[in-house]
Amino acid sequence: MQIGTTVNQFLIEEQRRLGGTDNDLPALVNDVVVACKSLSHAISQGALAGMLGSAGVENVQGETQKKLDIISNDIMIAATERGGYLGAMASEEMDEIYPIPAQYPKGKYLLLFDPLDGSSNIDVNISVGTIFSILRCPAGVTNPTAKDFMQPGTQQVCAGYALYGPSTLLVLTTGHGVNCFTLDKSIGEFVLTQANLRVPVDTREFAINSSNSRFWEKPVKRYIDECLAGKDGPRKENFNMRWVASMVAEVHRILNRGGIFMYPRDTKDPTKAGRLRLMYEANPMSFIIEQAGGVCSTGRERIMGVQPTELHQRIAVILGSKNEVDRVVAYHTEG
Ligand code: AHG
Ligand code: MN
Ligand code: MN
Repeated sequence: MQIGTTVNQFLIEEQRRLGGTDNDLPALVNDVVVACKSLSHAISQGALAGMLGSAGVENVQGETQKKLDIISNDIMIAATERGGYLGAMASEEMDEIYPIPAQYPKGKYLLLFDPLDGSSNIDVNISVGTIFSILRCPAGVTNPTAKDFMQPGTQQVCAGYALYGPSTLLVLTTGHGVNCFTLDKSIGEFVLTQANLRVPVDTREFAINSSNSRFWEKPVKRYIDECLAGKDGPRKENFNMRWVASMVAEVHRILNRGGIFMYPRDTKDPTKAGRLRLMYEANPMSFIIEQAGGVCSTGRERIMGVQPTELHQRIAVILGSKNEVDRVVAYHTEG
């Protein structure tokens, strides 16, 4: 029987092809993969296992945590803290970084994650995901602090997401293209199902939460107005719209058929630079989209070039098909 290439085999072979001898990265990703498999099961159990609903507490973002936000955070920690590959980790659901406990060996990587992305969708059975980003611990650092996480997205050594949809998928990059694996539940392994994904450069599909339109800045308003005007407007073409409210699902759609996703800076809450978080949402998704030939910008600069100053900092996100993102960036330049 043919099994196909598992994600672990794929990563080990990729490292070998690149002349690497260090299998810590495949081993760390394998730990993350175990967490995603466990989460896939927990999420699919839903109400049967009492997994749905609010936990009644707020995270550092001021958002009410769902039970599954907390469970998925715990699953990710338990799966990755013992391997000896990490110095520390950080999550959307933890105010501070999580240093590797003293009883476990420390390693040379830092892990950042959004354990459950799109969690507002969980109670209505719409796709959710997990996003992660791996950085190197700065040389000589054995007890990393939050400061050691403050690396721009260009420094990521690996990024990925799991999408818990009709099937469970894992999409990964280590900076050598983007590959997609599907969880084969009969063998409990993610198996390579799409190699070297490429984002189409053109699209006629956009994704934005237009209930915020009155708070948008001029360039975003102009771009969306032009899309909405369709054949009768300056673009002379009709556009389609999608909004899942799960970034993982939106990015996956864009990877497969193109599109532009925007959660831009707006004036709704002037204390926030955007809705999404730089270090465990925008950066890993940018690494994946750029590796697939797409573009990711705040409208003013490349997301992966931004020097982080805070673990939970927010940022404007405009990502997807090159020609459309370039257009929105040009509108920002024109003012
Ligand atoms: P999270 O569930 O991790 O807080 O992230 C949700 C994010 C993202 O997935 C999605 O694109 C966006 O928030 C949805 O925002 P709206 O609630 O404004 O639709
Ligand atoms: Mn999220
Ligand atoms: Mn989340």
